[in-house]
Amino acid sequence: MGLLAGKEIILGVTGSIAAYKAVYLLRELTQLGAGVTVVLTEHAQRFVGPLTFRSLSGRPVLTDLFDPQTDAAVEHVELATRCHALVVAPATANLLAKAAHGIADDFLTTLLLATRAPVLMVPAMDGGMWDHPAVRDNVATLRARGLTVLEPDAGELASGLVGKGRFPETDVILEALHRLLSPVKDLAGERVLITAGPTREPLDPVRYLSNRSSGKMGTALALAALRRGAEVVLVSGPTRLAPPGGAVFVPVETAEEMREAVLQHLPFATIVIKAAAVSDYRPREMAAVKIKSKQEGLTLQLTATPDILKEVAARKGKAFVVGFAAETHDVPRHAREKLEAKGIDLMVANDVSQKGIGFEADDNQVTLLDRWGDVIELPKMPKLQVASAVFDRILSLRAARPAKVPR
Ligand code: PMT
Repeated sequence: MGLLAGKEIILGVTGSIAAYKAVYLLRELTQLGAGVTVVLTEHAQRFVGPLTFRSLSGRPVLTDLFDPQTDAAVEHVELATRCHALVVAPATANLLAKAAHGIADDFLTTLLLATRAPVLMVPAMDGGMWDHPAVRDNVATLRARGLTVLEPDAGELASGLVGKGRFPETDVILEALHRLLSPVKDLAGERVLITAGPTREPLDPVRYLSNRSSGKMGTALALAALRRGAEVVLVSGPTRLAPPGGAVFVPVETAEEMREAVLQHLPFATIVIKAAAVSDYRPREMAAVKIKSKQEGLTLQLTATPDILKEVAARKGKAFVVGFAAETHDVPRHAREKLEAKGIDLMVANDVSQKGIGFEADDNQVTLLDRWGDVIELPKMPKLQVASAVFDRILSLRAARPAKVPR
């Protein structure tokens, strides 16, 4: 989240019970190094007072366009031109309507007209309101004008009803803001198909064969691609991670389900990256009932799962295909053998016997081997940075590809 350090953010808060959640958002933003100026609507102040926001932002809170203490009318122009992003969180149905129709009757709505900075709206309201055709139309108008309007979460609402309208998690808002501020959009127009996590191959109704993949590497690839402007389909085995907002998320369980999902999306992909740790074997048959315990010398019959990566490479069309190789020794040799056997463009090899990288870790250390014979060893770094380095390499190989002859 280093991108937020030193950035000037305006945080507009409107009159919803979710206004208290803006306090947590403000705290996160300031902890990440952003300078935040809070603007409260009149109704927001009924829920949370300016003092709370002033204490956490360390700045005066702006409430009144005609405040005689400040030269607010001039200040709004200055603020609007100086800020890097304007976040309205929570954004009520009323605020969305005013923004869609260009109404400027208070400090926040005036800022919304005056600024040319990217705008992020974080709606929160009752489910029935969110679904109302008037709100849908206003959201569509704002999105068509280039504003980012997040989808609210579904769940129990302040009214006690269950529906879509909850204020999203802070992480989701920060990620959306990060994407908005990312300067590099060099993957715009790309459709990236990524696999992540493990597969589970059922032995019986309660047991399965699997592995330690957490999905962190694949999810980091999805995040990096989204930040750089790509459309992303993330096909993921079971993990504890929240799917990155903005990606088409396809949850799967078995290797066969992963294969089907990947082949379904393959015709639309320009880049395919298989970071998933697919089980190489599955039980020949799944027992219909739970296998009895305490059976000495119980033998499992296993059969190989489909090699998805190889099939993708054979049917890839113009897509650039990347695999990951999980090795424990003689990494470059084994990774190159896999690259050639599967017929892919780039192999990202990691030594999964090393502590602190590979499975479950937050960091990774990878070697990039391409089908043109080049090898690049990268240092250990957070998985998001590894992901970005993989995309850098894909773009530079693709740019050079016409001139290169595969080895
Ligand atoms: O998820 P994390 O905890 O973040 O861990 C990341 C990781 C270690 C899982 C990741 O960095 C990684 O190495 N992923 C590939 C793991 C793997 O299955 O490696 P492999 O060498 O067995 O397979 C080579 C390639 O073939 C992989 O791209 C794999 O997705 C693919 N494959 C393998 C078997 C199979 N039946 N179908 C496949 O498509």
